[in-house]
Amino acid sequence: MKGVVLAGGTGSRLFPLTKITNKHLLPIYDKPMIYYPIQALVDAGIRDILIVTGGKNAGDFLRLLANGKHFGLTHIDYTYQEGEGGIADALALAEHFADGHKICVILGDNIIEGSIREAVDDFRKQPCGAKILLKEVPDAERFGVAEIAGDRIINIEEKPKRPKSNYAVTGIYMYDDSVFAKVRTLVPSGRGELEITDVNNAYIREGTMSFAYLEGWWTDAGTFDSLLRAGNLVAQSAKGRTAEGGA
Ligand code: G1P
Repeated sequence: MKGVVLAGGTGSRLFPLTKITNKHLLPIYDKPMIYYPIQALVDAGIRDILIVTGGKNAGDFLRLLANGKHFGLTHIDYTYQEGEGGIADALALAEHFADGHKICVILGDNIIEGSIREAVDDFRKQPCGAKILLKEVPDAERFGVAEIAGDRIINIEEKPKRPKSNYAVTGIYMYDDSVFAKVRTLVPSGRGELEITDVNNAYIREGTMSFAYLEGWWTDAGTFDSLLRAGNLVAQSAKGRTAEGGA
């Protein structure tokens, strides 16, 4: 399976922090934000990774990540998103890279404590379709929210005023190569973007969407509060590990 990190966008919710740099280059405790999603893919055994970015600071990703030595990689692929078309528009740029393989997509501002290895391994065995990871949250209205019936997801609503569950759809998505045809059928949402939630609902309607619950903490980092929370969570985990190691 190949990996795709989506790291475009204007980061408008973080202005003026993002006026002169890309959101995914901002620090989360002791590393640039984008290190965390790349590490999550590498830890799941994925070594072919594409970074999709855009805006005025795209070149900084190449300077920062180079060929991926920090992650034990020997190369990284890069592509450039023109304009502000949304997550699914950014994903469309990965078609050439995917080249018929399954992909694991992670949003560049999603940070996890645990591992996605088991879910990735399960999706390797899944004949076709998609798989998403859910996390119970207290503020579901900020996210895509899964409506669950028994052991199936029957719909996802993007930022609903009255969420039908407390389960957020995290920014970690696994797709077969039909994802690109699905993206081509999308129309822009109210916020003028091609929504990843519409892609996921297409798989749900087709009956090929599976899901798992993510272990450990999960946060995005695209607002002032979540950026601060992400830094604090990473710092606490790092200090916890040091204390354990020293004991
Ligand atoms: C995006 C997705 C949303 C998902 C979230 C996870 O939201 O649209 O469904 O729950 O990422 O971080 P955005 O960050 O674009 O508001």
